Amino acid sequence: MRLIIGVTGASGAIYAKRLLEMLHELHVEVDLIVTSCGRYIMEYELGVKYEHLAKLATHVWDAGDMSADIASGSHTHLCDGLVVIPCTMNTVAKMAHGIADNLLLRTFDVMLKVRGDGSGVVIVPRETPLNENHLENLLRLRRMGVTIIPPVTAFYHHPKSIQDLVDFIVALILDHFGLPHALVPRWKKP
Ligand SMILES: Cc1cc2nc3c(=O)[nH]c(=O)nc-3n(C[C@H](O)[C@H](O)[C@H](O)COP(=O)(O)O)c2cc1C
Repeated sequence: MRLIIGVTGASGAIYAKRLLEMLHELHVEVDLIVTSCGRYIMEYELGVKYEHLAKLATHVWDAGDMSADIASGSHTHLCDGLVVIPCTMNTVAKMAHGIADNLLLRTFDVMLKVRGDGSGVVIVPRETPLNENHLENLLRLRRMGVTIIPPVTAFYHHPKSIQDLVDFIVALILDHFGLPHALVPRWKKP
């Protein structure tokens, strides 16, 4: 399996870190694109250098590099999907309106073009409260077939730590791509 992972400048870099760790453990080939704001927040919230996390990816692309392999539709069929985690409202708006002015947005645009819809694309949008633009843009993306997983955790697994809260969301993403994990016990009727 090969996935493109996009990290943007929303709060919640810890979700990206955990997903990258899990994909690394599962030997999934990862193309990583981090926007400049994403890089700033990743370093600020996690207290680690971007290069440290980038080591978990198979290929690391500069978000400004529009000549990267994955910018081309000829490459799209080699990738099984795209996950934007966490995803800013800025990136949501651009995705919803066909703006492709960085490599992450370009890969989304190309995926839509080649596949005909946004199936295979998962976003983890992080903003609160949500305004009318945010909601309309998210609806547009859903109508394109994009799977929207807000980082809103359930509590029936009795989380004890921040890691448990994060794992609940990362587990949903792994489930989406049929990747095996034991991050969170599945619901069982007591
Ligand atoms: C500390 C910090 C936290 C932020 N958190 C969010 C957030 O949770 N959601 C969001 O949509 N934007 C957030 N922003 C604003 C985005 O970083 C900003 O809109 C930026 O232009 C996004 O660019 P990108 O989508 O290319 O990463 C935050 C900015 C800072 C400095």
